[in-house]
Amino acid sequence: MVVAFAKGDERQAAKRVLVDGDAALERLGAIEWDFARADTSYLTHSIHPYPAKFIPQIPNALIQELSSVGETVADIFCGSGTTLLEALQLKRNAIGIDANPLAALITQAKTTPIAESELKILEEHSLECQDLLARAGTLTGNLFHDRVPFKSDAWRPSRDVCEFWFERHVVEELAELRKAIVAIVSDRVRRLCQVVFAGIIVGVSKQDSDTRYVRREKAIAPGETIRRYIGKLEVNRAAVRRMSDLVERRFSCQIWNADILNAPSLPEFDLVVTSPPYPNAYSYHLYHRTRLLWLGHDPSRLKQVEIGSHRKYSAKSRHRATPATFQYEFEQVFCLLRKSLRSNRYACFVIGDSTVGGEHMDNSSILASAGAKFGFKEVKRIRRTIAPTRKSFNPRMGRIKNENILILRKV
Ligand SMILES: C[S@@+](CC[C@H](N)C(=O)[O-])C[C@H]1O[C@@H](n2cnc3c(N)ncnc32)[C@H](O)[C@@H]1O
Repeated sequence: MVVAFAKGDERQAAKRVLVDGDAALERLGAIEWDFARADTSYLTHSIHPYPAKFIPQIPNALIQELSSVGETVADIFCGSGTTLLEALQLKRNAIGIDANPLAALITQAKTTPIAESELKILEEHSLECQDLLARAGTLTGNLFHDRVPFKSDAWRPSRDVCEFWFERHVVEELAELRKAIVAIVSDRVRRLCQVVFAGIIVGVSKQDSDTRYVRREKAIAPGETIRRYIGKLEVNRAAVRRMSDLVERRFSCQIWNADILNAPSLPEFDLVVTSPPYPNAYSYHLYHRTRLLWLGHDPSRLKQVEIGSHRKYSAKSRHRATPATFQYEFEQVFCLLRKSLRSNRYACFVIGDSTVGGEHMDNSSILASAGAKFGFKEVKRIRRTIAPTRKSFNPRMGRIKNENILILRKV
């Protein structure tokens, strides 16, 4: 791990935050948190869609006020890596944990600078895909290759998944793209291409959208899958180049694909900024199922450990979770934070309320009381409105219009 400052500086920085803590909290209280017109997709922030991700302006403000240059910021439910990218561009070290393998992959691609020489590899790969598109030219509405229906010999998920969720020619094109990606020699470039690949899957599948797991015919034309992939590759190549110019390599970024309740032992950090999963808001193992399967992951492993998933709290579930389940899970989270967050430093949670079995759940208060058991004191709670254009949730499920920024201090 790269340490960007000496021990003495570190103590100075901690002292500074302590001394200025009240002023920083006051300044945070004065911010207009809705950021209704802000650009939320700069750098690599939009490299892949991620439901319920927070806008970068939120971690940006919290990191600036509650940490110093060279310190370490952790997001223990990092999702698509918004906090980590903001931490790095603000010259902090970053740590991220998420149980969803797709989240860890996106975060890695989002935060890893790529050298000019590697961008050449990306260019070659893009040319290879264009060649594939030309070879698999379309005739009479079917995809053909040398005058026979185009059929890839490459790996794909099980037959029932492919037949239920995809048109036949889409499966062949995805399999061929995947084969080309697996062959990329640079880890960094390969990861970026995997993210681009995962990013197009829901759109070319019969899954309605990222927030609706129902089947809908979309009539994806032959060749369209490869075309979309090439298009997204171009957009993301430019985004990664901008990020690579900005992020300094002396700041470290560590990412774990792990269940936080069974987490590996973590290094110490100076600030937590996270938006945790909460009851009934979303089911990542389900909505990301086809993406995970194409990447070679088993979604049932995520299902077993996912906190707050809609499935877990559904009335249909045999062992339906309750508010007490959620409280208990967060007591374990605070037990871990007690060990890894430095004393007198802050843990910030961006979280909304939910409804379980018709009953309202005040998730911020549940977190605050779980934290109190492990020596975390609530120092600020800020209410913010979520822009109506932010369609992160299935509207039927969530109906979430507001959320809180809950700030606790480890005392
Ligand atoms: C609201 S999302 C975080 C989004 C993130 N702030 C962003 O901007 O992309 C919550 C995350 O918690 C993760 N998660 C759920 N249960 C988990 C667990 N047991 N351990 C670690 N991560 C978990 C989910 O996979 C999801 O990525």
